[in-house]
Amino acid sequence: MRTQVGIVGAGPAGLMLSHLLHLRGIESVVIDLRTREDIEETIKAGVLEQSTVDLMTRTGVGDRLARDGFVHQGINLAFNGDLHRINMYELTGGRAVMVYAQHEVLKDLIARRLTDGGDLRFEVTGTAVDGLGGDRPTIRFEHEGRQEVLECDFVAGCDGSRTYTRHLIPDGAVRTDFFRQYPFAWFGILAEAPPSSDELIYAHSERGFALISTRSPSVQRMYFQCDPDTDPDDWSEQRIWDEIQTRVSGAGATVKSGAIFQKAILQFRSFVCEPMQYGRLFLAGDAAHTVPPTGAKGLNLAMADVHVLDRALGAYYDAKDTGLLESYTSTVLRRIWRAQHFSWWMTSMLHRFSEATDFDLRRQIAELDMVTSSTAAARTLAENYVGLPLS
Ligand code: PHB
Repeated sequence: MRTQVGIVGAGPAGLMLSHLLHLRGIESVVIDLRTREDIEETIKAGVLEQSTVDLMTRTGVGDRLARDGFVHQGINLAFNGDLHRINMYELTGGRAVMVYAQHEVLKDLIARRLTDGGDLRFEVTGTAVDGLGGDRPTIRFEHEGRQEVLECDFVAGCDGSRTYTRHLIPDGAVRTDFFRQYPFAWFGILAEAPPSSDELIYAHSERGFALISTRSPSVQRMYFQCDPDTDPDDWSEQRIWDEIQTRVSGAGATVKSGAIFQKAILQFRSFVCEPMQYGRLFLAGDAAHTVPPTGAKGLNLAMADVHVLDRALGAYYDAKDTGLLESYTSTVLRRIWRAQHFSWWMTSMLHRFSEATDFDLRRQIAELDMVTSSTAAARTLAENYVGLPLS
């Protein structure tokens, strides 16, 4: 088998890259270890930046998004007994975010790739990439009982945080990993309940952080900070609702409860690997970087990476111009580190750290007070939250 770009991983980065390349007439094959059902049903984040929405709309995969997504023009910060709204729309000159679940984005991309005749291989095993130093790398894998060898011009490593492709960049000699672990996690739930708030609430409290999000008029998504080794089975529905309510009630919010049908613990990590390329291999999305979910940036960074990679590959195939490919890492790293800082900042401002003293709590409240009372500070938060425009 032969293709132009072999894409390892059918998540947001891999599928969007394949879609963008197709629109410019570049062929790709996407492979993934998981089943299509698994990819289309795994619950992940749900906030799309304005640029992600625009990219999906502009490239013809935004119909369901326009119909089923919810535009949010502001967010609320709850702290010290009050709820404060950040009007992102006004502060950014008309930008907003869309609440639309990541697995819905994946369904839209898979459906579109298949309509366009795209080659997607699910449930592959034994993936092995060779020949990255030359100009004909290969991806070997097994699919439906057959051993395949895919010859390509380029390999895109879009295989998420449990990546195989990142490790193809020699550790130490070429690759440096930047890493931060946090001493807490998020307990995430999905519940059949009416919305508790029109817009998201990010709550600071003495018992730790809580987040009220949503998925639809009848399904709600909420999170609360917990110990990383929390066992969700130790938490009854009542205990969960009480914990969330306690964390937001100081600010006067009331949580509307309902049947919880999903519980999961999300680990908190900040991670970047540099460089994000090696010979004919280019990494995109979580394979190269992860952010804690507080800034809602993970999916959006993946989209921004492949937007740049698509253009760079376009320049190569149009004019044999390798300039944009050579500068891929430095182009995308600027946005990645901006998002790393933003995600770390939101996390540090809103969470209770195990060693926190009363001094730290008061300092956090002073910071939240500044963010909600100074227009300049509020605009910094709003600009980062809705996301920088794609260049
Ligand atoms: C979500 O709805 O899943 C969500 C919202 C905001 C975040 C993280 C996750 O910061």
